[in-house]
Amino acid sequence: MKFSFTKPALPKAGTVAVTVLADRTLGSAGQDLDQKTGGMLTRAMNASRFTGKKDETLAVLAPAGIDAGRVLLVGLGKADDVTDLTLQGAGGAIVAALDKSGETEVHVLAEKLAGSPLPAASIAVEIAYGARLRAYRFDKYKTTDKKEPKPALKKVCLLTDEADAAKRSFAARDAVAEGVFFTRDLVSEPANVIYPETLADRCRELAELGVQVDVLDLKKLKKLGMGALLGVAQGSVNEPRVVVMRWNGNPDAEDKRPVAIVGKGVTFDTGGISIKPAAGMEDMKWDMAGSGVVIGLMRALAARKAKANVVGVVGLVENMPSGTAQRPGDIVTSLSGQTIEVINTDAEGRLVLADCLWYTQDAFKPRLMVDLATLTGAIIIALGHEHAGLFANDDDLAERLTAAGRAVGEPLWRLPMGDAYDKDINSDAADMKNTGAGRAAGSIAGAQFLKRFVNGVPWAHIDIAGVAWTKKDSGTVPKGASGFGVRLLDRFIAENHEER
Ligand code: BES
Ligand code: MN
Ligand code: ZN
Repeated sequence: MKFSFTKPALPKAGTVAVTVLADRTLGSAGQDLDQKTGGMLTRAMNASRFTGKKDETLAVLAPAGIDAGRVLLVGLGKADDVTDLTLQGAGGAIVAALDKSGETEVHVLAEKLAGSPLPAASIAVEIAYGARLRAYRFDKYKTTDKKEPKPALKKVCLLTDEADAAKRSFAARDAVAEGVFFTRDLVSEPANVIYPETLADRCRELAELGVQVDVLDLKKLKKLGMGALLGVAQGSVNEPRVVVMRWNGNPDAEDKRPVAIVGKGVTFDTGGISIKPAAGMEDMKWDMAGSGVVIGLMRALAARKAKANVVGVVGLVENMPSGTAQRPGDIVTSLSGQTIEVINTDAEGRLVLADCLWYTQDAFKPRLMVDLATLTGAIIIALGHEHAGLFANDDDLAERLTAAGRAVGEPLWRLPMGDAYDKDINSDAADMKNTGAGRAAGSIAGAQFLKRFVNGVPWAHIDIAGVAWTKKDSGTVPKGASGFGVRLLDRFIAENHEER
């Protein structure tokens, strides 16, 4: 899909999209268009339930008086409630509305909104960004689907008085979208295509953008002593990898300590010997979503040349049952030296992250660490698919992450931690066990476990099990892999750890 920004002029064909504020309020460009059609837009609105609410659309076909074949009215709601997210949602709604129409080209009248302080350029930019994010497809394995024709929309042109400024600021948004798409692609791939070795290969692609990529293989992981991660991997013929990606966008920074982002990359989670039920097990191909977010984030930062120093670390393993697989009751020695009794081989993500977190703080002395993981089914019970779970040993970090999430539409909800929960993972046989007290507070038990491997560094854990994959289209996220976390962390870094 191609995006362009030009000065307002009505197109000779295709669709013209025009924004409408609450109570069927057209702006001056909208009123102009309405007049040219002999009042057709007003009549169409009055003849329908369309009132200009957020995310509402109404298509007016073959309008008289203009060349375009269709006018698409797009609701934004009340002017003073309109934010970047509203506009991104509108961009998404335009793509969704035209998806099945066969339309190949849309021109969006991105006019300034009466009663809103938003600058003209950002109105165009945010609509374009939302459209771009929503237009994502993962259909590379569909070769013969005749019933569902592929969406035809190829060109999106934003009509704005501030075309040059919009074009410039769209470039940074576009880089983030590239990162989100990289994540969505990786997470969507099946586990026979993406396994630790091949996922590490995909990480290597980032070298082209200036990211320094180091892949630690089995031999190296053994030598380092990553016993917790290796225990998970030992049942699979696909060997594990840990990949370190470094983006040094601010080499002259006063404070040289990087921000570290760590991701769970279980490329398939059968549960191991504590095997999962068959129903829905295919979903566990996306148990590497945490690592997918880290990889996509590094791509976004590099693509927009972020002035920040960030290290991304992903632990890549496959959790399989076999004659060589780890058994319940096995005791492993983690990289930190702490021993772990593996009560349930399906609580494998925390074992992988334990060694990755310890390695990261030890090797890179980061100013802070954030990990992302599809860690627990329990977080879906707690928060559903609306918020990701947030856990932290640092209130300021938790607040900054929450604010970034709110700003980009990837909301977090913080859950408590504490000594009373920590006790639940004590073991009679080792320093700790990998599960808590039965089914109670399962997500917190996971977070308490991770906390024992951060060595006091400011740290946050984001449990994305409920948000990494969506079963229905919405806003800027088509169904499938969401890429949740890329936009959030990009914003967090831009706001807190980047020089301008
Ligand atoms: N990958 C799963 C968590 C998960 C479940 C992610 C559903 C996405 C959707 C994780 O490895 C796991 O199996 N966790 C167990 C932990 C339990 C054994 C303590 C769980 O949540 O049941
Ligand atoms: Mn598991
Ligand atoms: Zn898992």
